[in-house]
Amino acid sequence: MNKQFDVAVIGAGAAGMMCAAVAGQRGKRVVLIDHASRLAEKIRISGGGRCNFTNLHASPVNFLSENPHFCKSALSRYTPQDFLSLIKRHNISWHEKHKGQLFCDDSAEDIIRMLKAECDLGKVQWRMSCPVTDVQKADAGFVVQTSHGDIMVDQVVVATGGLSIPKIGATDFSHKIARQFGLKIIEPRPALVPLTFDAAAWEPFVPLSGISLEVDIETGDKKNKMLFREDLLFTHRGLSGPGVLQISSYWQPGTPIRINLLPEVDLAEDLIAAKTTTKKNLANYLSQYLPVRLIDGLLTAHAFDGNLKIADMQDKRLRLLAEKINRWELTPNGSEGYRKAEVTRGGVDTRELSQQSMMANKVPGLYFVGEAVDVTGWLGGYNFQWAWASGSAAGMAV
Ligand code: FDA
Repeated sequence: MNKQFDVAVIGAGAAGMMCAAVAGQRGKRVVLIDHASRLAEKIRISGGGRCNFTNLHASPVNFLSENPHFCKSALSRYTPQDFLSLIKRHNISWHEKHKGQLFCDDSAEDIIRMLKAECDLGKVQWRMSCPVTDVQKADAGFVVQTSHGDIMVDQVVVATGGLSIPKIGATDFSHKIARQFGLKIIEPRPALVPLTFDAAAWEPFVPLSGISLEVDIETGDKKNKMLFREDLLFTHRGLSGPGVLQISSYWQPGTPIRINLLPEVDLAEDLIAAKTTTKKNLANYLSQYLPVRLIDGLLTAHAFDGNLKIADMQDKRLRLLAEKINRWELTPNGSEGYRKAEVTRGGVDTRELSQQSMMANKVPGLYFVGEAVDVTGWLGGYNFQWAWASGSAAGMAV
């Protein structure tokens, strides 16, 4: 069979389109294959439809991996500024939200159009609505088996992402191909995902659903503690919001998380000092710090009477209440799973890949990029930055 293409990129998402565009513009004959009918569904829904396309402060510390040094090379060779230059070349207007997070002013569609245009510049050929059933090693190169027939190529880039949001086309294809070629997988888990609690234990907090506030949230032991100061959102089933999504990526099942609902105040010290300076009752006094509905809910849930005058309360009780607010420890029973997770933690073990090119060390010509790989970014544009950087690294190497 004649080789019509040099490279097949499987998965026309963020990493796949970047890789195909870079390789195509280097003169490679590239075919980009996706089983979905529409391009890059995840870019379309990202950032509330405005795509948080990078983070100005992206650096290796913002990524989780069993092999934390792996991402350094690709991230240093394709930086947020490189992506920003591309955005500017395409006249896409953008703004910084906070903490270096960059969003489109108008729509995530701008990013998809831009990547499509870059692929077209590289004369990339499209095969959409085209499920890939298998990839086999041939005498020279690979055979990519698709619903539209076999495609012979020299090199294959697997860019089919992780397992999050199956209803828009996520599959375990990358893991399946990695295993088939004898590569190790770091066990995948939902990440950047709301956390849930045992229904009975959570019942007292259900009335707090909808309340959002900035907190310190942490997990892990002394040696590997991770802490974020971000918003938390109470839900019917548990906790969500940016702080919880961030910590969910680090949380280990069966272990607790700790939340400081009032990070700027040492509440024990404050309440004990207030015994001599205020005539207020507990609920009124706390209302200077926290929303009334949250105070009512917390006092009820932790069995405190909000009508008690602070001056009449024992130090021991005040300290106990302060601990529930400054260091609330609770153990999730799980997460909302891949249905709600923004990303998948784990994936192809990076020790199997070249950090320069993303190629599998023991399978020359086979590459893995983007979320398929065991590199997971924080919330805030980091995951797209990894998709661009790893896609570009493979695009330069194929
Ligand atoms: P991606 O998932 O983008 O693409 C994989 C492609 O492979 C898809 O087009 C899929 O159809 C295709 N595919 C899968 N299996 C296949 C098969 N068997 N055959 C053929 N094709 C197949 N990140 C960020 O940095 N900023 C943000 O604002 C957001 N927001 C956000 C919101 C929501 C709701 C989600 C779910 C995720 C985010 N993310 C994010 C994360 C970000 O979307 C994600 O990390 C990247 O899209 C990963 O890029 P990839 O190209 O690796 O996979």
